[in-house]
Amino acid sequence: STARLTVDPASTIGAIRRRLFGGFVEHLGRHIYDGIFEPGHPTAGEDGFRRDVVELVRELGVSTIRYPGGNFVSAFKWEDSVGPREQRPRRLDPAWHSTETNQVGLHEFADWLDLVGSDLMLAVNLGTRGIAEAIELLEYTNIPGGTELSERRRANGRDEPFAVDMWCLGNEMDGPWQVGHRSADDYGKLAAQTARAMSLIDDSLKFVVCGSSSASMPTFGEWERVVLTHAYDEVDYISCHAYYEEKDGDVASFLASGVDMDRFIEVVVATADHVGAVRGSDKKIDISFDEWNVWYQSRFENVEKIQGIDNWPVAPRLLEDRYSVTDAVVFGGLLISLLKHADRVSSASLAQLVNAIAPIMTEPGGIAWRQTTFFPFSLASRLARGEAVRVAVASEPVETARYGSVPSIDAVATRDGSAAALFVQHRGTAEPVELEVDLSAWGEVAVTEASVLWDEDRHAANDLETPERVGMRPLGTSVVDGMLRVTLPPLSWAAIGLS
Ligand code: AHR
Repeated sequence: STARLTVDPASTIGAIRRRLFGGFVEHLGRHIYDGIFEPGHPTAGEDGFRRDVVELVRELGVSTIRYPGGNFVSAFKWEDSVGPREQRPRRLDPAWHSTETNQVGLHEFADWLDLVGSDLMLAVNLGTRGIAEAIELLEYTNIPGGTELSERRRANGRDEPFAVDMWCLGNEMDGPWQVGHRSADDYGKLAAQTARAMSLIDDSLKFVVCGSSSASMPTFGEWERVVLTHAYDEVDYISCHAYYEEKDGDVASFLASGVDMDRFIEVVVATADHVGAVRGSDKKIDISFDEWNVWYQSRFENVEKIQGIDNWPVAPRLLEDRYSVTDAVVFGGLLISLLKHADRVSSASLAQLVNAIAPIMTEPGGIAWRQTTFFPFSLASRLARGEAVRVAVASEPVETARYGSVPSIDAVATRDGSAAALFVQHRGTAEPVELEVDLSAWGEVAVTEASVLWDEDRHAANDLETPERVGMRPLGTSVVDGMLRVTLPPLSWAAIGLS
């Protein structure tokens, strides 16, 4: 089949904020311990951090990193994670039924962020805790000195403040599984009061209030409206979380997951703008899409859960999804969806980073490797700069059970001065597509790089035995008189750099 794309650089969507390429590190499974931190590993420094993982995180190109959870944060006491290591308590982590040793805490994690070149986005516990502990943590992290907690930070080895400027007000407080789960009314009030108190200490902070844990939550929509009605003036972002998986072999719907993400974003923006309109406010609330990925939750449900009063393992293997080429093509589609909404999605965090539903995997004492999803993220993070630009698409439709008829091609472009990029997902599973991309409005255009993620075996993946089985492949292109021509294989995702 054929498809025609038209890219007019005047059709700008909005500026791409670097925070869009954020990540998420939770104390969960082998994410921290035996993931980023493994003293004794051949590549570990004196600090215990694996340098092979540091290199991969740098290559991935994650900007801000959300920490320390996730569900974990809702029962976490930050004080446990600072001070002399030998005095730190071992604690129960009820969210993942594990033992938290607190050998990596705020200071160590900040040091690791310096190694990987990322910024910290910190979540406060609004599950078992509240306003008092949130402002204490802020005093510890952001006050230069002269008070009990800021001096404690200095005594613990960090003279300069951590200067955390972006804060999550709890995590997934709409979810019954969350420790301290609340109604929208109760949570909205608590979130507003917490943000207000923290702003009294530092009025430059940015706050993310919890939106829905997914668009299929029974309270979706109303949760956002009620929470924002309480917290509109105090917060800057509302969060979205979404995970996708192939269900019952329905690959067509799975490949169209970006359609669902598009609708999710648009509904939350409309709801936030509705609350703003009712209040007569000029302020706009943006989205922090602070958990997104492919995640085989159904497989996780079938795994025997860790349970038992005497069974609290340290760093068990949890949520170690192995991603296929199909998963990565869907994942690339989600990146396109985020970029298509760059005007209102100004922050996002890929959930997660190492070992737990992650683009990077590690073997204790052994190698670290890139999962299939690593490639679209690192390419988009490197190439998608400046502004997002709308792409008009005329392509064959694909029928899906979940989303009806959807275009077989999804695409977005970006532009930063003379550099530009085009990202395309081909959702068709049978035939290649001949793409004609009309770039005549761009003036002189040349292709600087072009690659495609595709495989004859859509289930192909990288793992311990074959860590480099899947990667990006070179993509042939031609440009004549402003018309870019390229053939995309079925079930593929492509990135094209232009100048
Ligand atoms: O990312 C894994 C988990 O998914 C997070 O801890 C939680 O916030 C979400 O339900």
